[in-house]
Amino acid sequence: MFAIVNFKFDVIHMRKFISTGLKRLVFFSCMILFVNPLFAKDQDNQNPKGRQRISINDGWRFFKYDSISEADKLIYDVRPAVSGSNDYKVADAKPTEAVEVKATQEVLKPWILPTANAFIKDPRKHFTRPAGNPGGDFPFVQNSFNDTSWEKVNLPHDWAAKGPFQTGWKAEVGGGMGRLPVNGIAWYRKKLDIPASDAGRLIFLDIDGAMSYAMVWLNGHLVGGWPYGYNSWRLNLTPYIVPGGVNQLAIRLDNPNNSSRWYPGGGIYRNVWLTKTNPVHVGQYGTYITTKDISASSATVNLKVNIDNDSESSVNIVAKTQIFALDAKGKKNGKAVATFKSLNATIAPGQTAGLEGSTDLKNPKLWGPPPSQTPNLYVAVTSLLQNGRQIDSYETRFGVRSLEFNPDKGLFVNGEHILIKGVNQHHDLGAIGAAFNTRAAERQLEILREMGCNAIRMSHNPPAPELLELTDRMGFLVLDEIFDSWIRKKTDLDFHLIFPDWSEPDARAFVRRDRNCPSVIIWSFGNEVGEQYTGEEGAAIGRRLKDIIREEDDTRPTTTAMNYAKPDMALPKVPDIIGLNYQGEGIRQSPAFEGTDRIRTAPQYDPFHAQFPDKMILSTETASAASSRGVYLFPVSKEISEPIRDGNGGDSKICQVSAYELYAVDFGSSADMVFAATDKHPFVAGEFVWNGFDYIGEPTPYYEARSSYTGIIDLAGFPKDRFYLYQAHWRPELPMAHILPHWNWTERIGKITPVHVFTSGDEAELFLNGKSLGRKMKEKYEYRLRWDSVKYEPGELKVIAYKNGKQWAEDTVKTTGVPAGLVSEADRKVIDADGKDLVFVTVKITDKDGMVVPRSDNQIEFSVEGPAEIIATDNGDATDMVSFPSVKRKAFNGLCLVIIRSEKGKQGTIKLTAKSDGLKEAISLIKVTKGK
Ligand code: GAL
Repeated sequence: MFAIVNFKFDVIHMRKFISTGLKRLVFFSCMILFVNPLFAKDQDNQNPKGRQRISINDGWRFFKYDSISEADKLIYDVRPAVSGSNDYKVADAKPTEAVEVKATQEVLKPWILPTANAFIKDPRKHFTRPAGNPGGDFPFVQNSFNDTSWEKVNLPHDWAAKGPFQTGWKAEVGGGMGRLPVNGIAWYRKKLDIPASDAGRLIFLDIDGAMSYAMVWLNGHLVGGWPYGYNSWRLNLTPYIVPGGVNQLAIRLDNPNNSSRWYPGGGIYRNVWLTKTNPVHVGQYGTYITTKDISASSATVNLKVNIDNDSESSVNIVAKTQIFALDAKGKKNGKAVATFKSLNATIAPGQTAGLEGSTDLKNPKLWGPPPSQTPNLYVAVTSLLQNGRQIDSYETRFGVRSLEFNPDKGLFVNGEHILIKGVNQHHDLGAIGAAFNTRAAERQLEILREMGCNAIRMSHNPPAPELLELTDRMGFLVLDEIFDSWIRKKTDLDFHLIFPDWSEPDARAFVRRDRNCPSVIIWSFGNEVGEQYTGEEGAAIGRRLKDIIREEDDTRPTTTAMNYAKPDMALPKVPDIIGLNYQGEGIRQSPAFEGTDRIRTAPQYDPFHAQFPDKMILSTETASAASSRGVYLFPVSKEISEPIRDGNGGDSKICQVSAYELYAVDFGSSADMVFAATDKHPFVAGEFVWNGFDYIGEPTPYYEARSSYTGIIDLAGFPKDRFYLYQAHWRPELPMAHILPHWNWTERIGKITPVHVFTSGDEAELFLNGKSLGRKMKEKYEYRLRWDSVKYEPGELKVIAYKNGKQWAEDTVKTTGVPAGLVSEADRKVIDADGKDLVFVTVKITDKDGMVVPRSDNQIEFSVEGPAEIIATDNGDATDMVSFPSVKRKAFNGLCLVIIRSEKGKQGTIKLTAKSDGLKEAISLIKVTKGK
């Protein structure tokens, strides 16, 4: 049995190396040899025959069919008929059985499946490419095809984000998938620049994520593909490359409607690379670093390197690896701090050698989460030498940290107890859609950090590799997750369709890519899967996935998030960590739910702890509390947590949820209730709130909308009141107090208008127009102070908070005047001229004294001068159906957001002007420099 307490950093079992014959077959049938795109840097300029990693994001042509009926029939596989949209299901509905379909037309799946072979352990289960070249005669894959009428795009590209939104109940894409035109079949084409001097090199295409069912042709030859849109994958283009000639790449994507419970995005929405190597090279995801015996004076660093010999002859290789410290920006810092003994191997042609080494790192600087620890990083640089000549150089970023998953006390990082203060995050980045952008992701993490969040659950799929670079660098703990469904389905066309063929390769590829990241501390192989309901049969599937993951990495425990399975059921026996969704607080406990056929569960922390005394318990999902920023609905419940109903936290006419932050979806609970449940059970390791940022799609409870309500932060990145409730609890050392609601209630004079205060203090006194409304103290398991019988009168609300009897923090809210002007605030004053960097500008509607007018919704128009363009605007209103790229947008409760992107290679000053009828305009100036 795997020991949870003091989780060991044992030597990891090597994967079996593919036999020579098979490997050759794989190679010559155009399949796939592998290099790690995540860690390999563009590092070999002096050695043009060594490794190069070249971004090929720019200069693509894009075409999408207007409808599926017009599209070509180059399909991956046939699909079952759709029986219903997800918009009418509750999020925790029981997943249902797959429907069988038989192919009645030619499908390309047999040519795509061999791409998976390197991630299928049993060589007998490897797929053999059939003869033939399907699609080879299709015009779009021909070198001669004229694509100049196709749209010019740069990657990462999300074909749906620009809209328009589809409104109404009859929309093709409903609220669940975000009302954006995400479904459909599309093609990307690009000519690759392959000089004649590349002859003899291997050339790989590395795609970090394409949504979905990607199939790739090069020079008219079907090379392979990868259906799951969230994974990273590689194709070996070498057999079809013409060095010095025309090399035409054509990629077909097919993104089905009814395939997701949230907005998946569509297109090649992550980075794409060409990796060129010597025939003898470090394999894909070819290094694996683990650390053990960690003390202040030393740590043992273990290294495994896989070297592929794809040349025609046997080679003698020397592998040398040195370790360097990385600075806070991720740059190599000074001289090597440790060196591994040189490793030698004789590798027969077509074989992979697995070498292992170990070294002592003196006075290791540990990786750990702020604020109490620092996320120090190292890089191992592995050089391959053949006859004394360097033929490859490969970088592996890693960290040194010890983890303990204690069933009675929770998580320890480097010996320090760390309560998991986490959030769930979907992959979209708000108004820019799913197209990955490092700055947009970094901004999200900065805002979450400000709130006191220290952990992210990548719900429910592998993130962009750059997001893990950020979590490594910024010190967030990560629960890395691979699937939302197994063989039972949540939507008619979701991942369950490809689970039988792809679950092993997807799971192995996922772990191999991310296992060197110190921020990743737990693997999750499922979320609320239907197999919770199918006893031993379901558990067997879970066990298989867990075993796969542990074979690839046994230094981290696994979990699967369970909203239904109870301690006496089969599935909870499988994972190393018990991951509970909502069950800790109990689900649908109020009497109103009596007799429901939905999940109804008494609080489960104690029963699980009793049944599994050796497993740590973690809430993988909590809350699903909902609110609309700045919307307050009356009357206000006296309870601490309530399901959303019309007249009680909700208003289905305007599709908004009250920001008193007391209301949750039917199976969820308010933040207050979750805090109490966790604090009463100190053995619980912490929580991942559903969720950090609002996301596109899944707008529970109002599916007429376009984006979610459950974020603590709205889609534009503006904190809702809940942000301060979490900050008060998660950053007890930060003096802060926050009053809600706003104080502009002309229609409520004399009416009861409750005032709630979130503070990191333990006591507070509230004043209305200078008159005390009483001093209140938080009772045990209370997380807000509430004055529920305040009668509204205009003027000033002020709160003075105390901690241990001493004045600690204060906050003031005033009745404002009418809108008079705009104020704009850029999140950064200088950005990079790399064509990717972004500045996020908040535009506020203010009265004549500069105070934000809470309920203002004036229309604002934005324009920009200088080396930049406005790529999107937003206001955080889940019901706003104005397309994201629009430069005109109404404010939502006083705020609007403009997202501006630099132009590649152009320096200067950006001038953003925001105008609104009758209001004083606002101007922001932002500098653009090279190599900022
Ligand atoms: C959970 C589910 C999440 C999300 C959430 C919405 O049951 O795991 O993916 O759907 O509900 O409240």
